[in-house]
Amino acid sequence: MAIQLVTTSAQLRTESARLLALKKGSSQGLVPTMGALHAGHAQLARTAVAQNDVVVVSIFVNPLQFGEAVDLDRYPRTLDADLALLEAEGVDLVFAPEVGEVYPDGEPMVRVTAGPLAGKWEGASRPGHFDGALTVVAKLLHYGMPGAGRGGVLPAYRAYFGQKDAQQLVLVRRMVADLNFPVEIVPVPIVRSADGLALSSRNRFLSEQERDAALVLSRALRLIEDQANAREPLDLESAQALVESQPLVQLDYFEVVDPLTLEPLAENCKYTPFRGQALALIAAKVGAVRLIDNVLLDS
Ligand code: PAF
Repeated sequence: MAIQLVTTSAQLRTESARLLALKKGSSQGLVPTMGALHAGHAQLARTAVAQNDVVVVSIFVNPLQFGEAVDLDRYPRTLDADLALLEAEGVDLVFAPEVGEVYPDGEPMVRVTAGPLAGKWEGASRPGHFDGALTVVAKLLHYGMPGAGRGGVLPAYRAYFGQKDAQQLVLVRRMVADLNFPVEIVPVPIVRSADGLALSSRNRFLSEQERDAALVLSRALRLIEDQANAREPLDLESAQALVESQPLVQLDYFEVVDPLTLEPLAENCKYTPFRGQALALIAAKVGAVRLIDNVLLDS
């Protein structure tokens, strides 16, 4: 079936209900994106298509989560290529609203407050970012929610988020749990290029030299991951030094944190073997491009 593009929430509701009825479907998946799609997004869509009868991908560059207007203007818009990629993955519907559809009265007076976890790590360098991101995620989760089917039975509802934005994923899960959203949040692992670079819409802004330099992020994470897998103490300082030795890279943070509270753990595993679960988080500027990456440690 050819992919369909809708731009209003009313069309989305009508079309997703029609498709669910047509397919006699019992589940709907939503993949929220800001477009400029790459193989990481394709993986999100593929996972959603494998698990649901009807899949909606939203494409909306959310002004609320950008600090600087230039970043918002500079954000790549590639709708035709995005539609082709999603069609190839078997996505049913793309919801690509204008800003006025999502925020008809301008900036919303009432927003989601992401709380104390949002002040850490990414939030420390991007004040207000997670409030803006969670506000639009709340709206998108409402837009994408399937209505009751025949006999009043509610289809299963799942939403897909990449592990690459680890802090966003933690916060979305907290919002869904704390505010009782009737949706299952499904995390999807990071997709990397063959040399290890985590895929990101921002990679297109890297020069060839910067792209080479950026590989130090995944290399440093791998050092920590190998130590965790070997149940050795974690030598975060050496891994940080490796990143700092790369002149084109300006490290913002590199920490091992609790996967739920995002509190640093590295001091606890500096001299004793690492056991348990943790997230190693890294953020750095490579030239003018801010990149983030992470690995889940589980031993
Ligand atoms: O991760 C993203 O692309 C965005 O933050 C999201 C979840 C689509 C909200 O705008």
